[in-house]
Amino acid sequence: MEVIICADATEAARLAAGKVARVCRDAGPEPVLGVATGSSPLKLYAELTRLVEAGVLDLSRASAFALDEYVGLPPGHPESYAEVIRRTVTEPLGLDQSRVHTPDGFATDIHAAASAYEAAIRAAGGIDIQILGIGANGHIGFNEPTSSLASRTRIKSLAPRTRADNARFFGSPDEVPLHCLTQGLGTIMDAHALLLIAQGEAKAAAIAAVVEGPLTALVPGSVLQAHQHATVIIDEAAASEL
Ligand code: GLP
Repeated sequence: MEVIICADATEAARLAAGKVARVCRDAGPEPVLGVATGSSPLKLYAELTRLVEAGVLDLSRASAFALDEYVGLPPGHPESYAEVIRRTVTEPLGLDQSRVHTPDGFATDIHAAASAYEAAIRAAGGIDIQILGIGANGHIGFNEPTSSLASRTRIKSLAPRTRADNARFFGSPDEVPLHCLTQGLGTIMDAHALLLIAQGEAKAAAIAAVVEGPLTALVPGSVLQAHQHATVIIDEAAASEL
């Protein structure tokens, strides 16, 4: 695992965007991106947008797969991850919407939707680079502590801490869905490269556990230790417990 500590979040985003751009160029005209929601990658997306607008990165034929989706939010719900990804990734980067995928959390057969998502990733040839944030409890995607290290896309319950953390996006804490569909840790590990980005002191303990702790299902992000091409890009505050 390569760990890069940057002076601040802006430098971290610039470096991370450079890494994503290199992988995309190496992948050819149809790169496959794995994209994450949350505040952590927003500056990275802004940097990528700058590269696209400057004409040095062509994502016109790129595909993207989101990590996860809430279960039960109707299509078009502003906090569904399909909408969040549309607002923060698809539109700014000018991706072709028909090539951007999120798990179908509103499907009547949720298990079939999970299998279909795995099949879609396979059909695209796999993910060239998976962008990841980290939850304060060490989750990646919505793989909460105790998730199987070999898990595939599936329905999961959200941990109380995660529901509390995400309550700010909903009218009241009760409106945060109880379940999600998330790529599994095994699915995430299949990506050719992983890029975890984190900023701020609130993530310092999780980063220390991911980077220096044991590889354990209690800290799902620690699975990155077993990936051949995992990069962690953080600012000094997120690195403060290393
Ligand atoms: C959610 C997402 C994760 C994300 C996490 C951290 O739970 N499912 O993919 O990494 O939030 O969010 P933030 O970056 O806003 O701290």
